[in-house]
Amino acid sequence: MHYWNQEKECMPREELEKLQLRRLKETVYRIYSFVPAYQEKMDQAGIRPDDIRSLDDLRHLPFTTKQDLRDSYPFNLFAIPMSEVVRIHSSSGTTGKPTVVGYSRKDIDTWAELMARALTSAGASKHEVIQNSYGYGLFTGGLGVHYGAEKIGASVIPTSGGNTKRQVMLMQDFGSTILTCTPSYALFMYEVIEEMGIKRSDLKLKAGVFGAEPWSESMRREIEKKLEINAFDIYGLSEIIGPGVAIECPYKVGLHIAEDHFIAETIDPINERVLENGEQGELVITTITKEALPLIRYRTRDLTTLEKKTCECGRTHMRMHKVLGRSDDMIIIRGVNVFPSMVESVLLSIPGVEPHYILIVERKGTLDELEVQVEVSEKLFSDEVKKLESLGAIIRKELESSLGIGVRVRLVEPRSIERSEGKAKRVIDKRNI
Ligand code: DLL
Repeated sequence: MHYWNQEKECMPREELEKLQLRRLKETVYRIYSFVPAYQEKMDQAGIRPDDIRSLDDLRHLPFTTKQDLRDSYPFNLFAIPMSEVVRIHSSSGTTGKPTVVGYSRKDIDTWAELMARALTSAGASKHEVIQNSYGYGLFTGGLGVHYGAEKIGASVIPTSGGNTKRQVMLMQDFGSTILTCTPSYALFMYEVIEEMGIKRSDLKLKAGVFGAEPWSESMRREIEKKLEINAFDIYGLSEIIGPGVAIECPYKVGLHIAEDHFIAETIDPINERVLENGEQGELVITTITKEALPLIRYRTRDLTTLEKKTCECGRTHMRMHKVLGRSDDMIIIRGVNVFPSMVESVLLSIPGVEPHYILIVERKGTLDELEVQVEVSEKLFSDEVKKLESLGAIIRKELESSLGIGVRVRLVEPRSIERSEGKAKRVIDKRNI
């Protein structure tokens, strides 16, 4: 087994928890002293830094939400002077102001360390050529992966997203062995590889490190089969640091959370009760080493389950299950919660269906309706209408029995659903338009 930092990644839990407590105390002191908004929140909750005596005391601290970040736009939650901030990233923010995050020099080093661990966990080393097709810019994907890849000494190609034909040409000519991008972009790249008539034997690709959006186990199998690679899931969010918060190891039974830098909890998103290990809920993360933007109990809105058992890979850091989805992406149809990833799993279990789909929600009168548009394979599309009709009926039946609601299925022509070079858009909710 390869580790980047065996001492930290395989630290006995008792020692790890001692380290967490020490770092948590320091963080709480720091934010109480330097971030007025946090001081106010803690005063309101009637809790002082000295009250944190054990890791369990964490649950007395107030949550931080995306709204808190918005309210302090752009820099009011920063805990260090701007002269010490060396980098600023931000979320795209489809509505209103973006969320802004800052890094000190040490934060950038921490991030590179986490990404070095993540890439090593996925089998990377100085001998690999990493094609980094996450977007470079305000998005944290590109630069986050880049620094980690350089740290391990791999040869990084900073292609960023887009210009896919050129990406594929470089992949072939430079002999890229590891691809980093969103899973949806990896699929798009596969189509372009096919279109360009490039043979698999002309490529050196071995593995992919995919994240930034939810993707099901079936999608992993699809990507692994098509690209003939080993696909790893990587998780992160800008507010916490960017990519590298959690990564799969070769056993792929959950993503190891870098617990020497973050404390993870799950809560019931409605009543905010802290959940037991193994119960599914909203992931809440506390940063314990960040300098510029430390966050206490940040509500990620991502749904997952935590698992503390030591993994066979030897890493002691707890694991989170593959993220089911973001609560914002959850659509409620006649009282039933539907995540795009649930639809994806069903679709990909049916032969003849392509991994490209979109969910359209509409309100007809007082009733909400869900339409699932899905592409079918070229071969099937050119077959007789009857076959298509029966495929449509099969998909509808499978979706209805799995989701528990009525759905309309529309089979669409191959390549008619828009391809993504970054995060795929899976839902069009016409109810709010
Ligand atoms: O997406 C950071 C990142 C870049 C992660 C590259 C992995 C790889 P944001 O743009 O702030 O940051 O979006 C964060 O994306 O709260 C999740 O909802 C979603 N997300 C990220 N990784 C995964 C994943 C980056 N592996 C938001 N599975 C998060 C499911 C993911 N969802």
